[in-house]
Amino acid sequence: MGRNRSEWVSKPELEAGMYVDPAIYTDPAIFAEEQEKIFDTTWVIACHESELPEIYDFRTYQHPGGHNLIIVRDENNEINAFLNICPHRGNLLIYEPAGSIKGASPSGGPRRITCLFHAWAFDAGGSCIDIPRAQDGYQDRVKPCDYALRKVRVEVNYGGFVWVNMDENAPVLKDTLGGALDAIADTLAEPLEVFHYHRAVIDGNFKMWHDTNSEFYHDYMHYHNRITGMMQPGYWEREYIAYEGGHAQVTDMQLKYDAFEGMDERKLGWPGLDAGRWALVDLFPGISFNIRAPAMRLDTTIPLGPNKVLIEFRGLGLKSDTPEVRAERIRDHNTIWGPFGRNLPEDLLGTTGQGVALNDRTDAPYVLHAREEGNKVHDEIGMRHYLAMWKEKMGRSPSDPYGNKVNAAE
Ligand code: FES
Ligand SMILES: [Fe+2]
Repeated sequence: MGRNRSEWVSKPELEAGMYVDPAIYTDPAIFAEEQEKIFDTTWVIACHESELPEIYDFRTYQHPGGHNLIIVRDENNEINAFLNICPHRGNLLIYEPAGSIKGASPSGGPRRITCLFHAWAFDAGGSCIDIPRAQDGYQDRVKPCDYALRKVRVEVNYGGFVWVNMDENAPVLKDTLGGALDAIADTLAEPLEVFHYHRAVIDGNFKMWHDTNSEFYHDYMHYHNRITGMMQPGYWEREYIAYEGGHAQVTDMQLKYDAFEGMDERKLGWPGLDAGRWALVDLFPGISFNIRAPAMRLDTTIPLGPNKVLIEFRGLGLKSDTPEVRAERIRDHNTIWGPFGRNLPEDLLGTTGQGVALNDRTDAPYVLHAREEGNKVHDEIGMRHYLAMWKEKMGRSPSDPYGNKVNAAE
């Protein structure tokens, strides 16, 4: 027999923390608060250094807090980040997703970022180097030396990823990771190179994507994972290890790819991982390092609203790869994680389904995060641990977000 509405929306008979109010996935006010309290205060990955290989290369980045950034390599080979805003009248300085300022543009000369509106120009270090007809219009009231781009904190670290933080007073990156990346330090020790990039925009909350990376119970959705993982030795020993800061690791295992019809055993390894091993680290609030030797996948989430998220997917190999080795990494990566791979589109399907179904929050049920299996692979501690950090940052309980504001120390 089905449930009536009040039964359907009633709180589960479980401890708080074991379930989530669906409003945390859909409420625009909560989302705005997340941008301010979470994304504007934490380190996020904007790109990888190999995506800006040459001096004067740049990428633009849509920061999850709602800011447009420029990431650019300067003449000293340093990677800088700036708000993509002209200090003259607030125009977007760079419109393209990526490129180089080495050559001249239709708006200005080489080696400078020139605003297309009134041609103010800036160097790759952010200094203003030219204001057209400055003396005529401003006399001495406005001079290039008084203006510059707004710098954003950058660290290039942990495998050459370009991390940014909007908070000028935030601790350095290492002090926010709680040692979570030390667990996969060997896998990040050699210079890496991005060989694959694609993005997906789905109707769902950014936390739903992180949830799906933070629990393995949904391996039931992945036929490939059931055959190559769940049915193989070592799967049920995989364990979640929680780190301070809301981060978590899932210990690695050996997959048996050739158990899947038509697929061969993996032959190439990855530094720190033998061929066919699979390791994972999820970082709060929206980064996943996923390594199936011989390839690494990095997910970064950019929420576009409470119920819309852009996910960036990068595939990485080693900079030292020969063309043959690289081809093998690309093939193995794309077979599983490309847009038509065996695994990733299924996760997108599950998350989109949640986003569509829970969006009508008047009739959305509480969502369970309640599996406890000694922190082993189908335990849902990954999501609970993530939301404990969410609670600390937001001062709201995920199971009762409109109740009394909670004390962070609770
Ligand atoms: S807004 Fe950029 S030069 Fe005027
Ligand atoms: Fe999955």
